[in-house]
Amino acid sequence: MAFIQAGRRSVDLRSDTVTQPTQEMREAMFRAEVGDDVFGDDPTVNRLEAMAAERMGKEAALFVASGTMGNLVALLTHCQRGQEMIVGDQSHTFINEAGGAAALGGIHPRTVKNQPDGTLSLADIEAAIRGENVHYPRTRLICLENTHNSCFGTPLTVEYMQAVGNRAQSRGLKLHVDGARIFNAAVALGVEVKELAAPADSIQFCLSKGLGSPVGSLLCGTREFIYEARRNRKMVGGGMRQAGVLAAAGIISLTKMVDRLAQDHTNARRLMQGIAEIPGLVAEPVHTNIAYFRFAPEAKLSEAEFVQALEQHAVRLLSIGPRRFRAVTHCWIDSSDIEAAIEAMRQVMNGKNA
Ligand SMILES: Cc1ncc(COP(=O)(O)O)c(C=O)c1O
Repeated sequence: MAFIQAGRRSVDLRSDTVTQPTQEMREAMFRAEVGDDVFGDDPTVNRLEAMAAERMGKEAALFVASGTMGNLVALLTHCQRGQEMIVGDQSHTFINEAGGAAALGGIHPRTVKNQPDGTLSLADIEAAIRGENVHYPRTRLICLENTHNSCFGTPLTVEYMQAVGNRAQSRGLKLHVDGARIFNAAVALGVEVKELAAPADSIQFCLSKGLGSPVGSLLCGTREFIYEARRNRKMVGGGMRQAGVLAAAGIISLTKMVDRLAQDHTNARRLMQGIAEIPGLVAEPVHTNIAYFRFAPEAKLSEAEFVQALEQHAVRLLSIGPRRFRAVTHCWIDSSDIEAAIEAMRQVMNGKNA
């Protein structure tokens, strides 16, 4: 699929959120049967929610506008004001969601160090759980992220998820999973997504990343949890009325876009293989569709010069910190785009900025 931006073919590796709806999605959106979803009347949303709950092995699901909204609504539903959530210090929820849990829910974040593989160690979790003491906030929730975006897109295994779920249960806590890319995790690990979701009291996954939909996420949990979450979604302005137009694309995501994620992982591995062979660049570990790499000490370019020079070759990626970059593969990137991106990087690093 050629990805055309501003009339020009582009290899856009900035994120899997840049994906545009496929032709099949656009047609399904055009034809979608809709109703007022706040009244529960939208048959397409209802169908998507039922499908999502079934895929995750949960009783119910709620269609929300974004991953950020899915996480926020989950946290608001699990925690009362002044209660504490244990969350990874590199997690999207802690770093990249505008502090919504604290700002809107009065929820106190207790950060635990993310290990390089995206996990929180069980010992660190245990040490972070508060004892009963009038001085302390009460611990209520543990949050995990799977795959872990900033920890090399690593998938967290079924065994690890179970271990944290067991710990949460034995300490009377709830477990929420930010599963923005949980299908990438399931595909990479060769397991059913249900197995990864089973230990979670709630899980949020995104349709608008590798699964290619234009908008939307689903929050899944028990019927009772989703009943309360629906009220919180309304409170944050997420009652979307004829949202079946969006849900129609989401149904295509769930039925047609999951198995192909393996191709994105293969493409990310090939990209890193190519980058590893370019003098001046150092490839980091890659596990799914998120690939990080950095400048070698001898590289003379600035980050901005590198990114701008690549733009001249119609290759786009993100500079994410001192001498470090991120490239994300997705359904609009094929193997020829990967070869084009590698060649562009080779030329730029050679100083031949065409
Ligand atoms: C791990 C993770 N969680 C949550 C989100 C938030 O999703 P959204 O951009 O739909 O709000 C993202 C977005 O990139 C993410 O990477």
